[in-house]
Amino acid sequence: MTAIDVSPADLAAAREPIATATTLPPSFYTDQAVYDEIVDRVFRHSWLPVAHVSQLAHPGDYVALEMAGEPIVATVDRDGEMHVLSNVCRHRWASIVEGRGSAPALQCPYHLWTYSLDGRLSGAPRMDRVDFDKSGCRLPEYRHEVWNGFVFMTFDPGIEPLAPQIAGLDAMVTSWRLDELVVSATLSETADWSWNAMVDNWAENYHVTSVHPDSLEQMTPASLTEPIDNRGEPWCYARIGNTPEYQATIDRPISTLDTDQTTYSAAGVVFPLLCFFTFPDLAAWLHVRPTRRVDELDIELFLLVEPELAESEHIEEIREAQLKLGRSVWEQDAEMCRRSYAGLRSASARPARLSHLELSVWQTQNWLLDALGLD
Ligand code: FES
Ligand SMILES: [Fe+2]
Repeated sequence: MTAIDVSPADLAAAREPIATATTLPPSFYTDQAVYDEIVDRVFRHSWLPVAHVSQLAHPGDYVALEMAGEPIVATVDRDGEMHVLSNVCRHRWASIVEGRGSAPALQCPYHLWTYSLDGRLSGAPRMDRVDFDKSGCRLPEYRHEVWNGFVFMTFDPGIEPLAPQIAGLDAMVTSWRLDELVVSATLSETADWSWNAMVDNWAENYHVTSVHPDSLEQMTPASLTEPIDNRGEPWCYARIGNTPEYQATIDRPISTLDTDQTTYSAAGVVFPLLCFFTFPDLAAWLHVRPTRRVDELDIELFLLVEPELAESEHIEEIREAQLKLGRSVWEQDAEMCRRSYAGLRSASARPARLSHLELSVWQTQNWLLDALGLD
């Protein structure tokens, strides 16, 4: 029994080449039962981003988060080995840690069961009068893979490794050395729209002229956008030429870029959820964390720079300018996501036509339909 009730005509229209295609029907964005099925059949069998390596640089570092309602924690153990573990206590199910931090072990606040950073239960007070063997108890561990500095996890032990699936994208982003950048600024937000409404907004540069006229349109305008054919790989990516005015403001491009690479920026997504943007001197990562609800996301925007810049005397000024831009762009996008999502819930909403600048929307929907086995 499936909750996904899509007519053959709507399915065929979404599968057309972009020149004639329409979007997915609104229910793919708004229906809780459809979303639940996407979580079960797609997210739980995909590679999902959990952290940037700079957040897991030292033994004891941890990053805890929920991914579609599943509490997980990424850790670095004493030997420097990374783990992605269930963050659900094996005693009576409390989440063990929250947020980001560093600790010698993971201790559950409810009854103080303690786990080593690789997930083994190392302490369980007052369990000596019952028949309990703590050596047989540990947090479940999930597969993880690091790609260009982003730590991905999957709940599925059987899926293909990530890197070979996205080799075409790797070739385009590797020069940015995203694994060597460090977080310079962070913004935390919640969003009351769906994961795919968020991804659609992030990856298309069509709206930049109208929604960000005083900021991004002056830097990376819609008119200089070149969406790239992903040849069926699970990503989207658009190269966006920098305006001469913006180009002139870049003092210190990322040192590993060649001259041509310093002349453009790019927006990309590794499906379903790794949203990133590269500028010549900066990268942005929108960490989209779906919850159990179709219309609720936890969002963090991370801005990443070279470590030398992060340590420079100007970093406070730079951070302030980055946050100011990040906040204003986010507010402009949030307003449009809200309006569009309200419209998606209207009885009059229908599958929509797409501009060539929305190739990313088309690529996302085709990937999703493939993942759901809908042809
Ligand atoms: S729920 Fe974690 S120690 Fe009891
Ligand atoms: Fe935007």
